[in-house]
Amino acid sequence: MKIQPDRGGADAGKVRSVTVLGSTGSIGCNTLDLIGRSPDRFHVEALTGNGNVELLIEQAKAFRPGVAVIGDPTKYARLKEGLAGTGVETASGRAALLEAAARPAEFVMAGIVGIAGLEPTLVAARRGAIVGLANKECLVCAGDFLMKEVEHAGAELLPVDSEHNAIFQCFDFHAEKTVERLILTASGGPFRERSLGEMEKMTPAQAVAHPNWDMGAKISVDSATMMNKGLELIEAYYLFPVEEEQIEIIVHPQSVVHSLVGYVDGSVLAQLGPPDMRTPIAYALAWPSRMVTPSQRLDLAQIRNLTFEAPDTTRFPALRIARAALRAGGAAPTVLNAANEVAVRHFLDGAIGFLDIARVVEGVLDRSNQPAPSRIEDVSEIDVTARRLAGRLVDEISSRR
Ligand SMILES: NC(=O)c1ccc[n+]([C@@H]2O[C@H](COP(=O)([O-])OP(=O)(O)OC[C@H]3O[C@@H](n4cnc5c(N)ncnc54)[C@H](OP(=O)(O)O)[C@@H]3O)[C@@H](O)[C@H]2O)c1
Repeated sequence: MKIQPDRGGADAGKVRSVTVLGSTGSIGCNTLDLIGRSPDRFHVEALTGNGNVELLIEQAKAFRPGVAVIGDPTKYARLKEGLAGTGVETASGRAALLEAAARPAEFVMAGIVGIAGLEPTLVAARRGAIVGLANKECLVCAGDFLMKEVEHAGAELLPVDSEHNAIFQCFDFHAEKTVERLILTASGGPFRERSLGEMEKMTPAQAVAHPNWDMGAKISVDSATMMNKGLELIEAYYLFPVEEEQIEIIVHPQSVVHSLVGYVDGSVLAQLGPPDMRTPIAYALAWPSRMVTPSQRLDLAQIRNLTFEAPDTTRFPALRIARAALRAGGAAPTVLNAANEVAVRHFLDGAIGFLDIARVVEGVLDRSNQPAPSRIEDVSEIDVTARRLAGRLVDEISSRR
């Protein structure tokens, strides 16, 4: 099953209850920023963080959710103390996170990073929620399963990733056969103009300094390697009714054209806007209506030039590796994601170099012979095995440095 957004949405006039999974992250903070600007339209049901307990306390005091959940149990005492007397329930741990996703919010923002977000997203989908999907790793690891659960439960999955949100806005779901291709734009990240020799020496601080977007550390590194675009290619494949060959990637350094849909008559529709995640988040939050955002308005006369270039898969092998994993299917996308998460973490910790990230991912894919998942439970087994393999490769590489 692919996305089917025309099954009807919520009543645009009524107050929408919202749970924000990963409220302490970049997507979560932007979501709460928008909710705070339209307090009459939203009620917050649950907020969850993992380690940033002080921010979670601050958010819970401001938004008064039914419950605030901290993933890390060692932070629970502080959460409880910080919210004493507020009437906000507190909880911690994995089970509490899943319970937060199960609470009856109409809309759930899936803003947890990595595969840790898969289970809570599934819980929200299974109870038929409208899910704003920021967590692309969910679709990469378990695209078929997640989409089937969405269909089975009659849930709605709304893409929040700016590129997929752009395609969602331009895609004619009533005439999907007239769509010829999807064109995903990529900023090219901070190392777009760097040579391979220069990239070998890039530090975590340089990799997370994205030229256009202010995002969490993991996705920022993914943008620098362009693995982010590789993950998005897989995400687009699962979301939209197209084949892999119909999805193109083009580098567009200004990040103003967020993505495009090409039709059989040669027309190409694009969604444009300044790079601000609050626009796609607002589109999902208010869907099927729209809401006002404080995002800067597009001034094309001031921008003057929008440029485009073909991606370079020699300097950015992640693009080639991700496409190959999508073509291979089976366990490969899950392995790709797991190996990438491990490699990025070790790059951020200083154990491996920037170009080692793609080496680890490709090495794990080459050595992995795991069977295709036939149940959702298989996905976590594939993930764990791939992480172990990635850890070993990281150790080998770091011992040689
Ligand atoms: N940021 C963007 O502009 C953007 C754009 C498109 C798509 N996305 C996608 O959206 C997702 C979130 O990205 P982000 O940039 O917002 O990441 P982020 O800033 O790193 O935030 C991640 C959130 O997940 C929580 N978290 C981390 N590990 C967790 C775990 N094991 N269990 C439960 N919660 C956990 C974090 O809690 P603590 O901070 O409290 O530890 C935080 O709330 C990613 O999948 C990313 O690819 C992000």
